[in-house]
Amino acid sequence: TGLTTLDYGFVNTAATRSAITYIDGEQGILRYRGYPIEQIAHNSNFLETAWLLIYGELPTASELEDFDNRIRRHTLLHEDLRRFFDALPTNAHPMSVLSSGVSALSTYYQDSLSPKDPAQVEISTVRLLAKLPVMAAYSHKKSIGQAFLYPDNSLSFVDNFLKLNFGTLAEPYEVNPVVSRALERLLMLHEDHEQNASTSTVRLVGSTEANLFASVSAGINALFGPLHGGANEAVLSMLQDIKDSGEGVAKYVERVKNKEAGVKLMGFGHRVYKNYDPRAKLVKESAHEVLAALGVQDDLLDIAMELEHYALNDDYFKERKLYPNVDFYTGVIYKAMGFPTRMFTVLFAIGRLPGWIGHWREMNTDPATKIGRPQQLYVGSPARDYPTR
Ligand code: CMC
Repeated sequence: TGLTTLDYGFVNTAATRSAITYIDGEQGILRYRGYPIEQIAHNSNFLETAWLLIYGELPTASELEDFDNRIRRHTLLHEDLRRFFDALPTNAHPMSVLSSGVSALSTYYQDSLSPKDPAQVEISTVRLLAKLPVMAAYSHKKSIGQAFLYPDNSLSFVDNFLKLNFGTLAEPYEVNPVVSRALERLLMLHEDHEQNASTSTVRLVGSTEANLFASVSAGINALFGPLHGGANEAVLSMLQDIKDSGEGVAKYVERVKNKEAGVKLMGFGHRVYKNYDPRAKLVKESAHEVLAALGVQDDLLDIAMELEHYALNDDYFKERKLYPNVDFYTGVIYKAMGFPTRMFTVLFAIGRLPGWIGHWREMNTDPATKIGRPQQLYVGSPARDYPTR
């Protein structure tokens, strides 16, 4: 129609209104429900921030305790669902395993699939928050061929997750508080980022009145790509390649600038942030703290800092307003914590879950919501007659 505008990548088109997250990309501002991300990162915790994003206000102490308890009580997976993971190949990417597991939740919890029934929405929210980290840990255990542990509901959300990943049946496991606090902070920094590709996917799927598990499973698949959540994994592969090849940072940056096929500075650039990514600053702080506290010396952190230094002082990157994004330093930290590279995007998925849920719920309670159905500009053949043979 005459009203259709072509907007590849939705650079100029708002698909919804939202009261959850505010971003000013020019000034590097990110706020959850009005609270600056820096204050959230320094004062809150994962579940409190999840509540804030989902319900709109900070919880009272008793609301938070109740939320935490409800989530702890729903961590167990049905035994058949536990065995579902056995059917997948050991070398499967944990993101594919995770999205399959979340999709399978809608087969086990058919009593909580209605997006229009508030009680069902509530129970599916709690189930998903409780079970996704367990399935994420199983996707890790699966990939290294170790036995799955049962959740330990005496532990906090993050500590339980760490134990499920790094505990074994053979030995007792003690959570390292430095690792726990750092992971909690990284997860908080990922909790929401308004209409990014995966959240928009959750909304688009949800706009058909699909259930929460189906919508979030689609979001996980959208997050998987290297231009989105997969970038944290891609950054580490890039740093490792630079190290292994011995070509040096300057040479690599030259190849990026020459736009050699497939060569990008992963972890740099952002659709919205054109000055700096406020999350990247906070992550960089954590990278130094965690590596120092764990006594880890990693050449990859040195290469990352050198790359950052080169890029920030180079006209190519300055002209294009390319700065480190949230993913530039996360991989180095996750590696120091002991996560294999293929788990990095899974960690992003756990972090982003409250945002996906919050947006899905906001959409379902907004009376203006309509099924998502983009327009196109047709550029194919005009009408023609099928040849008679
Ligand atoms: N390395 C080298 N050049 C780049 C990069 C990069 N990482 N990012 C953008 N450019 C160049 C791009 O080639 C283009 O140059 P020119 O104008 O000469 O053609 C210019 O900068 C503008 O880039 P764009 O592709 O139009 O920007 P976009 O808004 O469409 O893409 C992006 C944003 C994040 C996909 C992109 O910057 C990118 O691919 N970055 C690397 C992947 C990455 O780190 N992704 C994580 C994003 S943050 C976490 C998340 O939300 O998932």
